[in-house]
Amino acid sequence: MSALSELYTEIDRCEDCELSRHRSRVVPGEGSEDADLLFIGEAPGWYEDQQGRPFVGPAGHFLDELLLSIGLSREDVYIANVVKCRPPSNRDPLPSEMRACRKWLDRQIELIRPKVIVTLGRYSLAQFLPGDAIGKVHGKARTKEGIIYFAMYHPAAALHQQSLRQVIAEDMLKIPPLLAQAAEVVAEEPKPEQLSMF
Ligand code: URA
Repeated sequence: MSALSELYTEIDRCEDCELSRHRSRVVPGEGSEDADLLFIGEAPGWYEDQQGRPFVGPAGHFLDELLLSIGLSREDVYIANVVKCRPPSNRDPLPSEMRACRKWLDRQIELIRPKVIVTLGRYSLAQFLPGDAIGKVHGKARTKEGIIYFAMYHPAAALHQQSLRQVIAEDMLKIPPLLAQAAEVVAEEPKPEQLSMF
């Protein structure tokens, strides 16, 4: 069993916040265990809660389209959420719920070791770049502790506000150059045997 599968078992049992009392299924996240690219949304919605999989409703269909636009599929990336259980009536997750769930996200990041993290929406952005306003920083990248963070509007925003669809689609196209940049940085890092010479 992989470390990530073991983590899913732990997440499945979690009752550390109120959301666990309302869920049908936990939605830990899914995708490639060694993905370079990690997308982090907000919280599971109705479809996700039913299936135990992230982004499988209308916002997820748009995310699939966006991935396709840069030649990727869900299997090439990893998709997770800030909270792993659906908030009742799709309300916003509470700060206490996000705090309680943060440990799972941190463990996922530790295990997957992505090079680029794409935050989807303001709740996800606030977890990593607190104080940044999505309207200002979307489509921009920032490197912190060796990881490139890239902020995007949440795909669901385009379902409510048609004008954002194009903005989100254009922001998505900025991701492949970031992945290429991250790969270059890794290639430039000295190999362990080079390090041991000094
Ligand atoms: N919205 C999210 O933020 N996450 C999902 O998994 C689905 C919709």
